[in-house]
Amino acid sequence: MKKKIIAANFKMNKTNKDIKDYFDIFMKKISELTSKKIFDDIEIVFAPPFTSLCEVHGAIGPHGNFIKLSSQNIYYEKSGAFTGEISLDMIKDCGCVYAIIGHSERRGIFGESDELIGRKLGAIYGHNYSYAYDNDSYKGYNYNNTRIIPILCVGEHLIARDENRYEDFVANQLNIALNAIKGKKVPSLIIAYEPIWAIGTGTAIKPEDGERMHEFIYNYVHSNYMTDELRVIYGGSITELNIKDFMDKPHIDGVLVGGASLDPSTFFNIAKLSAV
Ligand code: PGA
Repeated sequence: MKKKIIAANFKMNKTNKDIKDYFDIFMKKISELTSKKIFDDIEIVFAPPFTSLCEVHGAIGPHGNFIKLSSQNIYYEKSGAFTGEISLDMIKDCGCVYAIIGHSERRGIFGESDELIGRKLGAIYGHNYSYAYDNDSYKGYNYNNTRIIPILCVGEHLIARDENRYEDFVANQLNIALNAIKGKKVPSLIIAYEPIWAIGTGTAIKPEDGERMHEFIYNYVHSNYMTDELRVIYGGSITELNIKDFMDKPHIDGVLVGGASLDPSTFFNIAKLSAV
């Protein structure tokens, strides 16, 4: 059974002191759980700023089998003169097993194009390296025996939604980003459907509209690309109040939570409410 992903995107928030305070509370709540059965269903993922990846890795400690670490971004080159960028090897050094790519803030504020995001996806699946693909069989980018799983963010802006073009908009984003894996089977892929108009606005998509969009993404990816495991998670104004309505939907495999993940008690409750 594929696990649901309950991911916290801290964005550019929290110093290491804040992180320590956060995890003192969060991990205490985890240790007070009388049963760890909720983790049969869900995996908790934290995406702190790069500066706190190692700190969070340390805080997760022995719970690393059900609490995982993600970066908020990566660069696709292996190393070199790319001031300010962070490579896959670097995030793996800090214990990451996931990497968010193509978040709408990266696209909107920092001008990341679908093509650039596609290159990052290609790098994660080993495209840029000589040992990446061998006669079409997946070998993967394997360092320390860990493979990074991408969390590829897509989502339409308000005009595309209002003009009823949201499916085409997202299909186009998927096509350019996933071009790197066209005709190659990959082991695991997570798509985060995050309508831009719902991010940080307090107005989430209606769960039934979200479900329809997730089903569309599922069918679209399955008919055009090959992956052993596909999860489609939702992001945009998830709270303690609406989480259950989303997690009840069959094609919603989890959530990517921004604002509401910044408080440890709130995020803990979101995770708890997510387990069936
Ligand atoms: P939000 O952010 O939960 O604050 O809307 C979600 C995201 O940007 O991933």
